[in-house]
Amino acid sequence: MVGGGEGAYIGGIHRFAARLDNQYELVAGAFDINAARGHAFAAENFIAADRSYDDFTAMIAAESAREDGVDVIAICTPNFTHYPVARACLEAGIDVICEKPLTSTLEDAELLAEVVQRTGGFLGVTYTYAGYPLIAEARQRIAAGLIGQVRTLQVEYPLEWMATGVELKNNQQAAWRVDPKKNGRGGSVGDIGTHAYHLAGYVTGLKAESVMADLATFVEGRALDDNAHVLIRYEGGARGMLWSSQVAIGCSNSLRLRIFGETGSLMWAQEQPNELLFTPLEGNSQVIKRGRDDLAMLTRSRTRTPPGHPEGYIEAFSNLYSGFADALRARDVGQEPGQAGAAVPQIYDGLKGVAFVDAVVDSHEQGTVWMKPKYC
Ligand code: NAI
Repeated sequence: MVGGGEGAYIGGIHRFAARLDNQYELVAGAFDINAARGHAFAAENFIAADRSYDDFTAMIAAESAREDGVDVIAICTPNFTHYPVARACLEAGIDVICEKPLTSTLEDAELLAEVVQRTGGFLGVTYTYAGYPLIAEARQRIAAGLIGQVRTLQVEYPLEWMATGVELKNNQQAAWRVDPKKNGRGGSVGDIGTHAYHLAGYVTGLKAESVMADLATFVEGRALDDNAHVLIRYEGGARGMLWSSQVAIGCSNSLRLRIFGETGSLMWAQEQPNELLFTPLEGNSQVIKRGRDDLAMLTRSRTRTPPGHPEGYIEAFSNLYSGFADALRARDVGQEPGQAGAAVPQIYDGLKGVAFVDAVVDSHEQGTVWMKPKYC
């Protein structure tokens, strides 16, 4: 693991997720930008002292020289570091699980895509919400025609935590997120809009054709947007609206997706992830519940507890981890991955996310005009 040390946010979730299905063992790390703090964290987490490294460069050099060196490195650091760390891993023959957004600039994302192609390495992207069982179910049912052709979708990802200038009050997570050099060009749209954009495309199978955005920065002195409204035109004529906000008071992690087709609709909300609402045209709504036997194979394989025993965030994250493991094992024996491995976000999904941010910010800067993302 790179990053994810003491006081960090997402690294701990990666560690929980990696353990859940016994597919990974955490054996080495450069856990912190501050080497001493990283070593202390490694010791507390029972990492052997000789596999706790000062920085990622030292780790990659030492691990790639070991017989029992690491197979895959999880990158849990701020956005601008993803590219150099991922590139160094792949060049050394080590596969990568990378946080979103893939990189802080489109140039870096394109370069990284070339490195993946050239080295034949694997790069999985942790778009967390793609790992939920009922998201797999929604995807499968839409592909099977349950709601007919999709006409319109609404996806929103509002949060409250940056409604005031928390970046000025020693908030580690906020500090780098408001710095364009470390975060990238999109504030809320890069941080959480990329999740929403990926989720909408993942579930519906729709490809964006163009986007038009109105960005706002409500907290004084902030250099990046903290609220984004984006219209999306999809190939084939479907329309989407995406809202990302870091200033939405009352919203903890209120990611919600609503999809309306010719013959029905599907709705899912991350804070009630064990239920999916299906409504047929002129019919009563039905709740599709996680854990039942009549769900799709991938949905069932992503479920660990019986119906009524809630699952959530860590299990969804773990489903991505297990999917990455499936994809890696299949690749290593020259086979196609199973459903789990085929369903995980990879390099091109990451590249599309960064291209979306670029198109959104360009659209806003040019007066809220339609822009075509470079990769869709
Ligand atoms: P954070 O600020 O809480 O943690 C960053 C960690 O990286 C710290 O331990 C820091 O010391 C370490 N670090 C920074 N530079 C380093 C370097 N060069 N070498 C080694 N360690 C280094 O950040 P947070 O919130 O955990 O975000 C990290 C990444 O995860 C970001 O890309 C963010 O967008 C993403 N993220 C993804 C989420 C998801 O749902 N998939 C949720 C939250 C964050």
